[in-house]
Amino acid sequence: MNAISSDAGLAEPHLAEVLAAVGLDVEYVRAEGNTLYRLDEQQREAPVLDFVGGFGSLILGHNHPEIVTYAQDLLRSQLPIHAQFSRAAHADRLASALNSVLRRELGDDERYFAIFANSGAEAVEAAVKHAEFDRSLKLAALSEQIDAHVTQARSLVQGGLAVPADSAYARLDEAGPSGDPVQDLEELIAHVERWNAERLSTPPLFLAPEGAFHGKLVGSVQLTHNEAFRTPFKALAAQARFVPLDQPEAIRKTIDAERRVLLDLAVTDGAVTVVEREFPVFCAFVLEPIQGEGGINMVTREFAEAVRSACDAIGCPVVVDEIQSGMGRSGAFLASSLIGLRGDYYTLAKSLGGGVAKTSVVLIRESRYRREFELVHSSTFAKDGFSSLVALKVLELLEADGGRLYRVVAERGRSLRTMLETVRADFPDVLKDVRGAGLMLGVEFQDQSGSTAGAVRDFARSGFLGYAVAGYLLRRHAVRLFPTGSAANTLRLEPSVALTDDEISQLEAALRDVCSVLRDQDEGRFVGA
Ligand code: F0G
Repeated sequence: MNAISSDAGLAEPHLAEVLAAVGLDVEYVRAEGNTLYRLDEQQREAPVLDFVGGFGSLILGHNHPEIVTYAQDLLRSQLPIHAQFSRAAHADRLASALNSVLRRELGDDERYFAIFANSGAEAVEAAVKHAEFDRSLKLAALSEQIDAHVTQARSLVQGGLAVPADSAYARLDEAGPSGDPVQDLEELIAHVERWNAERLSTPPLFLAPEGAFHGKLVGSVQLTHNEAFRTPFKALAAQARFVPLDQPEAIRKTIDAERRVLLDLAVTDGAVTVVEREFPVFCAFVLEPIQGEGGINMVTREFAEAVRSACDAIGCPVVVDEIQSGMGRSGAFLASSLIGLRGDYYTLAKSLGGGVAKTSVVLIRESRYRREFELVHSSTFAKDGFSSLVALKVLELLEADGGRLYRVVAERGRSLRTMLETVRADFPDVLKDVRGAGLMLGVEFQDQSGSTAGAVRDFARSGFLGYAVAGYLLRRHAVRLFPTGSAANTLRLEPSVALTDDEISQLEAALRDVCSVLRDQDEGRFVGA
């Protein structure tokens, strides 16, 4: 008897049903460049033009020939793939190559240490864990200082060399939880210790922009703005405060609203006083330079400056999540470099694996790096020989010929964008906006919830218009592109750098058609086969 059951529909069947409802439940059998192939009724391969680009993981396209050949060679050579706890020479070369790219792009030579992981969310979680490790070590040092000051004050008072100042009691009466006036040093110390213990036991907070997406694991999903993804799991991890992307001034206000202090004792001229020490409430500010899943929203230079200066003022690290926007996608290696945003941490994933390997990394600048972290964080699969070498190959391709690929991304992006702008100019009643950078573009549709076509209106009202448009484009034009879970009306375009003029024209014809259908409220055609 065959122990392997042939039951179908056990792998996330509900999602499969949702995809089927809008005609997106297609099986692809082969992929190459910007093309996926499905089988038609005669079992012949039928091409589908893919603008989804593996959710941004395919800057080099599906099965890039050089990457594939290299990967095959690696496997054939019996490369040690899983040799944990040995000299990770390949990962080290990759870290060094990433540093050269950062050095060039950031224009300074501070080193970044690399912690490897396997997926985007995992790299974000490693970054967040490191930031919390750093914060907790700083807090431990601060608590130790306070304890030393308390001991010192106690011995000076006991030796008759100091007395508590009246202001110290007054400060505590204001702040103290019991209404009773504080009478002596021991009571004062008890108050200070109680106050501090309460603050030290609270979890940290994170800062992130509204519209943020940083993954769906336990910690990272709390940095993801979409409530449907985030709130059911709120009890599992530390929370973020979200600031609107168009209100840089809200960053400082949010920080001020959460400000907390620890109390310390100081002895000056024989008087013991209570002084405040800043409590590091915020663990990190995490942001994407171009929001991907949030609907292609660009962080402005002004917002980036406000993030940097607010975080510098409180010593909070800035984690720049380049998982989607990095690896050349924007026309630069890091999209943040285009807006002058300097990160203390950078996360990379998606295209780092060249569409073949699953790998990710968090890069942490030397001045913030805690070496001890390496002994408390690890993964079986991270830093493996195969993905490290594939990622190195990807970097080699990106950096070849003085970074020719970045220029091609920028140029292809301009052509694609020009086409999209032209279509929008002809259909301003259907297309609301075109935005993005390089080959990370978004096309926002006008709200159709008031449409006279019932099906269009229903899709719009239930947040599925973008998916319905995607289904139409796939059925009628063999073009694949999607909105995102958090931006239902915005189609996201992330083709590979190999994008041709013909492919742009094919998309143009498809978009013009769907725009006409929506303009004419042609329900029959929109939902028809
Ligand atoms: N950070 C960013 C900026 C992302 O875009 C994503 C994933 C992640 C982290 C998580 O990476 O999926 O490898 O765990 N974005 C996909 C999207 C899912 O639709 O944009 P992951």
